[in-house]
Amino acid sequence: MLASYSDRQTVAVFSLLQAHVFDPVSVPYLRVTAAKILEKVEKWGKTMSGPGHVTTYEKRVEHDQALSQQAFRDRYIQMKAKYKHWVPQWPENTDPQKFVFEEVAIASYLCALWEGPGWRGGGKPQTFVDLGCGNGFLTHILTEEGHIGKGYDRQKRKIWDM
Ligand SMILES: C[S@@+](CC[C@H](N)C(=O)[O-])C[C@H]1O[C@@H](n2cnc3c(N)ncnc32)[C@H](O)[C@@H]1O
Repeated sequence: MLASYSDRQTVAVFSLLQAHVFDPVSVPYLRVTAAKILEKVEKWGKTMSGPGHVTTYEKRVEHDQALSQQAFRDRYIQMKAKYKHWVPQWPENTDPQKFVFEEVAIASYLCALWEGPGWRGGGKPQTFVDLGCGNGFLTHILTEEGHIGKGYDRQKRKIWDM
């Protein structure tokens, strides 16, 4: 099966159908699957950008309006270093590599946003309540960073005793 969708770009999916390991009943399904793969590849190819690529991508949403990527990144680097010591002492049964850094990332975003010039009362401590806070690590980081809040959850976690 061969699909050509412009004079410059050609995509082929043939090994699937030429392989004789498939029984005849499967072949029509494989054809449908191959056609769907080609459609996807064609769509991705058309939306890729860069030298020599045609792009039909239209930006419809303005991203990073509330906080710049740079402000988030700077804060995350700083806070990751500050809180990474939680990884070796993580008392929960969850993966600390995921849960510590995920919460640090969320906290970094909130702190950079709340402390930035665009936020109402920016620079001052923010008050918050985290309802269903789970292990409460996000609440812990936010209060460590000077913000004033509490986390509530119906299920106590081991980390709460630390
Ligand atoms: C999907 S977890 C989210 C945990 C945390 N907010 C996070 O993002 O990692 C939902 C949490 O809500 C808590 N929860 C559900 N219903 C609740 C209730 N009625 N009162 C307090 N906590 C509740 C659960 O115990 C659970 O820890």
